[in-house]
Amino acid sequence: MTVTKEQVLAALARVPSPGGTALPDARVLSDVVVSDGKVFFSLTVDAATVKAWEPVREAAEKAVRSIPGVQSALVALTAERSPGSATPESRPAAPQARQAAHPTDKVQPGIPGVDAVVAVASGKGGVGKSTTAVNLALGLRDLGMKVGMLDADIYGPSLPKLLAIKEKPETIGGTRLKPIQRYGLTVMSIGFLIDEETPMIWRGPMVMSAITQMLREVEWGKLDIMVVDMPPGTGDAQLTMAQQVPLKGAVIVSTPQDLALIDARRGVSMFKRVNVPVLGVVENMSYFLCPSCGTRSDIFAHGGARNEAERLGVPFLGEVPLHMTIREKSDAGLPVVATAPDSEHARIYRDIAGKVLAQLKGGAGGKAAPKIVIEA
Ligand SMILES: Nc1ncnc2c1ncn2[C@@H]1O[C@H](COP(=O)(O)OP(=O)(O)OP(=O)(O)O)[C@@H](O)[C@H]1O
Ligand SMILES: [Mg+2]
Repeated sequence: MTVTKEQVLAALARVPSPGGTALPDARVLSDVVVSDGKVFFSLTVDAATVKAWEPVREAAEKAVRSIPGVQSALVALTAERSPGSATPESRPAAPQARQAAHPTDKVQPGIPGVDAVVAVASGKGGVGKSTTAVNLALGLRDLGMKVGMLDADIYGPSLPKLLAIKEKPETIGGTRLKPIQRYGLTVMSIGFLIDEETPMIWRGPMVMSAITQMLREVEWGKLDIMVVDMPPGTGDAQLTMAQQVPLKGAVIVSTPQDLALIDARRGVSMFKRVNVPVLGVVENMSYFLCPSCGTRSDIFAHGGARNEAERLGVPFLGEVPLHMTIREKSDAGLPVVATAPDSEHARIYRDIAGKVLAQLKGGAGGKAAPKIVIEA
């Protein structure tokens, strides 16, 4: 017997929250994960009201267990400090329930000391998102910005590897985390917070509390720009993340193949849904540069991302070649912009960084935000 999300929500509709509202309407529910009869979700509530919610958590678990076919139900209660919210129902909507209709509806508070948060995202995995994020951050650093990096890729955190970080962040006063400094970047990774053994299906619902912790309980200090390496894809976990992080804009990375471009389109569309301006599209692995003879081959019919960006009405930020040096350096924790600053590759990334900065200063988030034309 297959259990559906709808059945779970119907069962939860019979569970009242402390304020009397039915649970699905109380704006505390995360995405509901149902897998092989196992159900998992979390309730994110104001820290001051946790006690009142504990019986609700238990009642929710019981209600879900009573659905025929459910083998186990795990409901996590996560607390969120939300200043100024007196009752659970008066706090901002949980990401999934929140329907952002206009940019001014964005409710996430900014991160103290951080001027702009920029997401680097991709519709699908393996397109070079993390490599681009790291080199973009370093390019921004070279332009005189004070830059931080947040690795929010819950399915495969890669900053520890790409920046050769082996140490764990220290805690300050037992409650706050001190980010790691590398190549002039201030870095924090979700890999420091989530155990490598955590099964994939549990990760999605953990996104909210982990992200809140990384944004609010880390001593980021003063930053001009925070670059966020997002999880690939456009599912619920990614959407939740796009809503949780107070984003000023998003950069979409794609390879030139048709399939990747379809996913890139979904990525652009996702940010549009949450009213985050798309700062532009980067075509990664755009063309092949032979490491021995330097000959260029357009193995994936290069240029697809530029055309797609034009079609979607978002800026095109640049083309990064598929090159052995980028891969070797990236995977060895020696990003090309930091360790070969005079190379052509570094120049390309700095150029992209310049365009992103120009978008942030004059365009997106400002008066002349780029026009985004998308069919859903
Ligand atoms: N321009 C490039 N030239 C050569 N290799 C590249 C390039 N960009 C990325 N790579 C390599 O491709 C692999 C995937 O890159 P990366 O980890 O950045 O992708 P990702 O989109 O973040 O993947 P995931 O979805 O797993 O997070 C890595 O081995 C990386 O070194
Ligand atoms: Mg990655």
